[in-house]
Order: sequence, then structure tokens, then C-alpha cells
Amino acid sequence: MNVSGKTAVYGVIGDPIAHSLSPTMQNAAFHELKLDNVFLAFKVPTTGVENALRGMRGLSIQGLNVTMPNKAAVIPFLDEVDETAKFLGSVNTILNENGNLRGFSTDGAGAHHALEENDVDLKGKKLVLLGAGGAAKAIVFILAKEVNELVLLNRTAGKTDALAESINLKFHKKVTVKTLSSSTVQESLQDADILINATNVGMNPHSNESLVKPASIKPSLVVMDIVYNPRETKLAKDAKDAGAKVVDGLEMLIYQGAASFEIWTGKAAPVEVMRQAVLKQLECGR
Ligand code: ATR
Repeated sequence: MNVSGKTAVYGVIGDPIAHSLSPTMQNAAFHELKLDNVFLAFKVPTTGVENALRGMRGLSIQGLNVTMPNKAAVIPFLDEVDETAKFLGSVNTILNENGNLRGFSTDGAGAHHALEENDVDLKGKKLVLLGAGGAAKAIVFILAKEVNELVLLNRTAGKTDALAESINLKFHKKVTVKTLSSSTVQESLQDADILINATNVGMNPHSNESLVKPASIKPSLVVMDIVYNPRETKLAKDAKDAGAKVVDGLEMLIYQGAASFEIWTGKAAPVEVMRQAVLKQLECGR
């Protein structure tokens, strides 16, 4: 990397941020396309968001990713927010166009691409989604356009109601809402085509946990777990053992990063290079 006076600066803001995979992934992409850009990680708690965005304008930082806990907090300080991000109340990508800060959400597009690239056909399918947090909302907003039927299961009853209502109003799709339990999961999976775990259950250090009993997984089910730490979650392993197709959670991260890259540069992202960079960082345990 040759940093010079002409190098454009990009970055990610969040807290914690030291273990973010974005710098590795985005710098590999900049390098591959010979772009004179550098991508850095900035530790910014929610209380620092306003100053950080003032700094983005003042220092002409060209683009930022926004991660936990700042995805909602950045919105009041942006000049424009795209339709998806507005609906979700969540921005993960900011583009600085001559001081005009535009916010986008690429999380859902990441999930969509990950499924598409793994040859998962969404049309007419029944999707069961576990969780009702930011990631779940982003996924549901994008996938609801294509699937036929949705079942939203969440531990905290009532949290999915508003989401289900707006999905129903916007996309006119059948949406069922239930409180998450092993029996509602089992029941919902009986005639489901796709299952997505959008909760953080199964994430290290609780890697032996899964919300889905292995016996509920049919070989015809497609399973995507957004957890990628550990590399293979218990749910992914159980799904593989049951003969089901598994879409790696890391793919969603890579494709949301690729979508951010394309917003910033206007160029097609070198996805394979980004994937290899991320895998290498995870292997090294940095
Ligand atoms: P993110 O933005 O990554 O989606 P989040 O907004 O904190 O994170 O959402 C986390 C999701 O995981 C929520 O749906 C949460 O359920 P609650 O709404 O009931 O809190 C879900 N979740 C976390 N731990 C869980 C557990 N042990 N069992 C079931 N669901 C869990």
C-alpha cells in the first residue's frame, strides 16, 4: 500500500471495532482495483457520532461503514437517507459527495446476494426467520419482495408485530408472527423452504447453542446462519448433517461489504479477493 498526499480515506465507525473484518476486506479490494484509497477502523461510541460525522465532512473522508452501536445514531446527522435505510432506521454505509452525506443500508442486500450466489431461489418460497433485531429487519425488508410467505419468530413477544405489519402493508405478503420456542420453530419448519438465523445465538463463546433441534431440519431446507464466529455454527453443522443446503454467514458480511464498496467507488467489487482476505484474517485470529 502506497499512501500519499492523494490517497482518499475511508473507514468504519463502531465500538468495539478492533476486531472488525472491514479494513482487511476493503483494503484488499482497493488494492486489487489499484485504487489510491485506504480504509481504517475508528473507535466511535454513540456519543461520538455527531463529532465523527463532522470530522468526515471536515477531513473529506470519502466513505464510512457504520457498525454497532451506531447504525441508528448516525441518521440525524446525514443529509440524505435512502428508502431501505429509512424504513429500517439503520444506516451501515455513508457516501460523502462533496460534503453531502448520503446514508444507505447494504445489510439486506448482503443476505440477498449471499443466497443468490448460492443458487437459492426465493420466488414463491416460505421463509422462517429467527430474530427481530437490526439484522433480521434488514434481511426481511429485502427478501419479503420475493418470497411468498414469511414466519417471524422472536424470543421477545410483540417485537415482530410492527415489522410484520409494515411488511404486510408494503409487500402484501402473508406474515405469521410467533414467540420463538423449540416447538414454534419445529412447527414452522415443517413446510418451510428457507431458514435464517438472524439472532446471535451460537456465537462464540456459546458455540454449542442452537435455537433449532436437529430433528426439525429436513434435507430440502436451505439454512443460513448470520453468525460466522465460529466459522461453522452448531446450526450450520446440524443442517449439514441433516443433508440440508447451508449458506455461510460470512457470505452476508462479504456481500454487504461488496455493496458498500460499489456505492463508494462505482466499480464492481472483487468479491473473491474480499472473501480470501476475510478468511485469511479469521484463520490468523487477528
Ligand atoms: P442485530 O442488530 O445484530 O440484529 P440486536 O438488534 O441486538 O442485534 O438483535 C439480536 C436478536 O437476537 C434479537 O432478535 C434477540 O431477541 P430479543 O428481541 O428477544 O432480545 C435475539 N436473541 C439474542 N439472544 C437470544 C437468545 N438467547 N435466544 C433467542 N433470541 C435471542
